[in-house]
Amino acid sequence: MRKPLVAGNWKMNKTIAETRDLVFTMSMKLRKIEGVEKVICPPFVSLMAASALLEGSGIGLGAQNMHWEEKGAFTGEVAPGMLKELCSYVILGHSERRTYFGETDETVNKKVLAAQKAGLTPIVCVGETLAQYEAGQTSDVVSTQTRAGLQGATSDFASKIVVAYEPVWAIGTGKASSAENAQAVHAGIRQVLSEMFGKETAQAIRILYGGSVTASNAAEFFSQADIDGALVGGASLKVDDFVGIVSQSKVAKGE
Ligand code: PGA
Repeated sequence: MRKPLVAGNWKMNKTIAETRDLVFTMSMKLRKIEGVEKVICPPFVSLMAASALLEGSGIGLGAQNMHWEEKGAFTGEVAPGMLKELCSYVILGHSERRTYFGETDETVNKKVLAAQKAGLTPIVCVGETLAQYEAGQTSDVVSTQTRAGLQGATSDFASKIVVAYEPVWAIGTGKASSAENAQAVHAGIRQVLSEMFGKETAQAIRILYGGSVTASNAAEFFSQADIDGALVGGASLKVDDFVGIVSQSKVAKGE
């Protein structure tokens, strides 16, 4: 059985001091919830402070991006090995990275392979834009992004990869996908993963839904067979909301 995973993507929010406060308060509540993998992804500069606070808590820490090279003349970038000293997860190919910072399936793939080499668990984001959704291209877009993003991964590593389906039109808009629509897309992603890595590996991969997840709609998503958790943006900055979402994943999916 797949262990549910709920990750909070803080995006470009919170100073180091604010991170300390929020992680401290959140971790007191989150550490009591077992049977769910919980991950917090603050900005790079706060990873050090957060990792110190989370030590021994059972709560995972992740970055929101990284470069694929090990080191070198890449001003402003952060290498996989540098992250590995601080955290275990890294969000890759988020739609905001694709839209504002020119990330492509090709660069996402380089980063996924770099995560494999460094021993980081990537949370690889895929999802269609509103125009693609309206044109009925969701399945094609998401399949292409999944194939291109994960190609070349070993099956052993693939089983540890986390995929996040985040329809771009649902991110930060308050307009979440319906749970049924998300389930259909997740089942399609699992089919692609099965073709790439075999059925057994595909069954082990967690596929998260992301896009306006709240404590009020989370349970509906978690009740779907192929939805293994959530990647949460806005609601991950509010203690009660995020803790509420994590608790509901335990109710729906946990032992
Ligand atoms: P949201 O963001 O929960 O604020 O819609 C999700 C995400 O971008 O990962």
